[in-house]
Amino acid sequence: MTTYNIPLRLKRLRKTPMARAMVCETRLHPQQFIAPLFISETLQAKREITTMPGQFQLTLDCLPAEIATISALGIPAVLLFGIPAHKDAQGSASLTADGIIQQAIRKIRSINPKLLIIADVCFCEYTDHGHCGVLHGETIDNDATLTLLGKQAVSYADAGADWIAPSSMTDGMVAAIRQALDDANHHDIAILSYAVKYSSSFYGPFREAAQGAPQFGDRKTYQMDPANAQEAVREAALDLDEGADMLMVKPAMNYLDVILRIKQHFPQVPLCAYQVSGEYSMLKLAAAQGLINEEQAMLESLIAIKRAGADMIISYFAKDVAKLLGNNGKLMQLTT
Ligand code: PBG
Repeated sequence: MTTYNIPLRLKRLRKTPMARAMVCETRLHPQQFIAPLFISETLQAKREITTMPGQFQLTLDCLPAEIATISALGIPAVLLFGIPAHKDAQGSASLTADGIIQQAIRKIRSINPKLLIIADVCFCEYTDHGHCGVLHGETIDNDATLTLLGKQAVSYADAGADWIAPSSMTDGMVAAIRQALDDANHHDIAILSYAVKYSSSFYGPFREAAQGAPQFGDRKTYQMDPANAQEAVREAALDLDEGADMLMVKPAMNYLDVILRIKQHFPQVPLCAYQVSGEYSMLKLAAAQGLINEEQAMLESLIAIKRAGADMIISYFAKDVAKLLGNNGKLMQLTT
């Protein structure tokens, strides 16, 4: 038999689980995850979201158990979405101290004072037309929306939120929110900007979860075109100039190149990626059909997001992955 003179046999480092663990370049840890929560003002009991198996709309009464679970798993942060009892043209239910998110923030703070509470700041869940700001005719009035975004952010900060995460893709939103927070003496509240948010069909399942689908038209006039990557760098640079403490790319799996690009342009800025509802439900439904292994597919998708350059990940799998990572023996088996 011929012996080939192969200069290097990389299989040597893949031979055993121990060797693979030593040369593993990307690791997941529960502390890199943010768990999204949907809190309803109208439900009497928690309700499973049919488009997102395993995810629930919660009531305020569910929070003690949910926060205890999240905390026990070592997940440091939650991202809050509210489903209000009343919607109007201005989204005024998001601006009052007794709004559903304000109540949820105070309650979570009383259950676990240390948990990092991130409030999503947007109007689509609170307006009767379902767009992410106030309208002038059929288009969003950008600058009128800025004033209201500042008010919503201050109201969440007053309630006790740690980070404000504006997701409306309103031009100038970070500067307006920073100014409003500073004017209200909230200098220490950080802004995690949804700087790079694409107009994506992968938000589909979220519509049932947060009940904020636009009643007419779409979001293409304010969210980014999936074809554009250079523009993502412009968006990120602008938000940093306006005072964003952290950046986000959303969705994640179809935009790994964008995550990498943003990390390479701004290596010093903490970067978050949002694995959105469609990414989650696609994996869940494929696994339910027996097409893929749920745990392995979940890990592979999250490792890909991390490998691309995300420092933290918002994912509906947060609890599942934290559970799995807490069990090292099992993880070892999974990677064999
Ligand atoms: C609202 C908002 C959306 C998501 C997060 N915040 C919906 C949208 O912009 O259409 C999507 C999250 C998901 O799909 O998991 N501005």
